[in-house]
Amino acid sequence: MTKEALQELLEDMSLEEKIGQMNQVAGSFFLGASVATGPMAEKGFTQENIDRAGSAIGVSGAAAVKKVQKAYMEKHPHRIPLLFMLDVINGYKTVFPIPLGQGAAFEPELSMRCARMAAREAAVSGLHVTFSPMADLVRDARWGRVMESTGEDPYLNSLYATAMVRGYQGNDLRDRGSIAACIKHFAGYGAPDAGRDYNTVELSEHTLRQFYLPAYEAGVQAGAALVMTAFNTVEGIPATGNRRLMRQILRDEMGFDGVLISDWAAIEEMLCHGYCADRTQAARRAVAAGVDMDMMAGVYAEQLAALVQGGEVPETLIDEAVMRILTLKNALGLFEAPFKDADEEKEKEIILCEEHRALAREAARKSFVLLKNEGVLPLAPDTKTAYIGPYVDSRNLMGAWSLTGETKDVATLREAVLEQRADTDAVFCCGCPMTDRDMKLEGFLECMDEMVSAEEQQRMMDEAVEAAKACGRVVMLLGEDRRQSGEAASSAGIQIPGIQQELLDRVCAVCDQVAVVLFSGRPLDIRRIAEKAQAVLLAWMPGTEGARALVDVLSGRYAPSGKLPMSFPYCAGQVPVHYNEYPTGRPHVPGKDKDRFRSKYLDIPNAPLYPFGFGLTYTSFRVSPVRLDRDHMAKDDVLTASVTVRNTGPAEGTETIQLYIHDVAASVVRPIKELKGFCKVTLQPGEQKDICFPITERELRFLTENGRWESEPGAFEVFIGTSSLADMPARFVYG
Ligand code: NOJ
Repeated sequence: MTKEALQELLEDMSLEEKIGQMNQVAGSFFLGASVATGPMAEKGFTQENIDRAGSAIGVSGAAAVKKVQKAYMEKHPHRIPLLFMLDVINGYKTVFPIPLGQGAAFEPELSMRCARMAAREAAVSGLHVTFSPMADLVRDARWGRVMESTGEDPYLNSLYATAMVRGYQGNDLRDRGSIAACIKHFAGYGAPDAGRDYNTVELSEHTLRQFYLPAYEAGVQAGAALVMTAFNTVEGIPATGNRRLMRQILRDEMGFDGVLISDWAAIEEMLCHGYCADRTQAARRAVAAGVDMDMMAGVYAEQLAALVQGGEVPETLIDEAVMRILTLKNALGLFEAPFKDADEEKEKEIILCEEHRALAREAARKSFVLLKNEGVLPLAPDTKTAYIGPYVDSRNLMGAWSLTGETKDVATLREAVLEQRADTDAVFCCGCPMTDRDMKLEGFLECMDEMVSAEEQQRMMDEAVEAAKACGRVVMLLGEDRRQSGEAASSAGIQIPGIQQELLDRVCAVCDQVAVVLFSGRPLDIRRIAEKAQAVLLAWMPGTEGARALVDVLSGRYAPSGKLPMSFPYCAGQVPVHYNEYPTGRPHVPGKDKDRFRSKYLDIPNAPLYPFGFGLTYTSFRVSPVRLDRDHMAKDDVLTASVTVRNTGPAEGTETIQLYIHDVAASVVRPIKELKGFCKVTLQPGEQKDICFPITERELRFLTENGRWESEPGAFEVFIGTSSLADMPARFVYG
């Protein structure tokens, strides 16, 4: 449809029809049952406004979508099709590693391919929009939702947000296999106080803009068709009703002209925040802030017509929102093809096809991070291995957000070992249940696993210890349950369940060749694991092909190459912790522990246990001191920083060489280090290669005291290394 035709359509619609477009309702209203990812609202959903709703959330599957769309359009006066939306976060049916694991691959291009394949599967299943990527920057491991972010660094997150948007949307939303992306949660949702989900966010404007906004902006610049509001307040005002945030920052400054959708019931929640006295005020404030679509609060449907008729909301605001929604439907080609790609035959052909599974396996392999290795990994052939732990037979490897992924499609570790290694000698025991007997996962009680009796628990553990003794080498498959991370899954504790820790202690007491494979959706305090085990391989929640990918890496067919996209804290008391912190006036000098009046803890180190950018592999690398091709740089110069990287170990390996810059003195305090580039290099034993990073004025910019992104003259330090621990900087003077 042309723009003019869309305008004509808009003009021909009644006020009720227009407001209907701004209402998104759960699929269960159409189907009787569908995925619900939030509380079901009680008000605001009359049959009439369901019949006029602009979008459905939670319906997928070609047959279901076609059925709903057809019935809906037959009743609609202008035959305007519904938009079908769902959270397709790390895959649709073929499930990739959780986003935090994808961040560990330090390979945004890989995530672009994963997003593309997720989009293909989602599109043939009738979906038009995914609520992904989540571009929230995260620093607090207590917030279980960190699993859906790509980590603590604005530069890395920006690259991922860009890549994922491109992957989902392709070149044109009309194309087969393209779906619209939604950047979320605007803004600052990744910084809830004390790591408690949905909690207040308290960020200075400088911190918000310098660290938190860049990744959202990158997603917007990449062309994301939608943005979702955050649940939290920003400067004391809920994001969903925050005019300055939405109109000034998102629309005017970032140039976003797509559809702004509220998060689930977030318009209604402005009452709980104490920002709106009633639903009428909530509707007025959300629409004034420029929120185009109300996800599952029913507030717009219930309130807006009267507000317009009473002259309290100008109809132009409604027209503006509806035009954006119609424009999105048009961009997806829905007026000509309301089912878009929905196709039962294609579902059979594309979903979980070999190509998608192969990509899921590649992505999983690349997401694993080797945190410690004293020679246990890769597993030497011809030695008997005991695989012990609750993840031996678990199919729950897909992470908290795999709403559509099915456990039946996931191989277990036991199956993958037997399938690939024909290791008939291997022994498998669960050793203990996933969670402690008295552990309560609030809100999840109805689906907690059945707890085993104390006697059974004892028997499982004894059996595992005997197996460990008999084999002499153990791979322990431990970690958190998938429900311990994700939305509404915050925990003050960040250790694996006590029962698993006990299992590890007992196994380590009888065996000194123990490799722990750790499953988790978030960083954990793993001091005890790292102390007891000889190797630790972080597997995150690796997805459909995760178990097979693990066997690839444990066996040495592939070497791990992942790097932490989020620091692993020393303990819960240290969070939030992140590498790009500001220097203080009294910096702690390591080794000078007796110096009392310093910024330090009395009982733990300042540094996390494993920092951002850290990860080992099956070989070792030496990085030379940093070379700069000049020591002065003018505004238009390109300075080249380089190092020589040498594989000094026994095997081929891939290393991620990272460039960090520090602005020594500036008009506002600058982080001690900031990631500005990285490059993956694969080298044979003894091989070396020069790695060069161009540095331009762009890399030196920051939000100065003038509130502008600009560079300031002065000294800069350049660090290049294999993690954020890189030291021995080279210096240059800019300007
Ligand atoms: C709430 C979550 O915060 C958001 O990320 C998600 O997309 C919606 N629910 C819809 O499921």
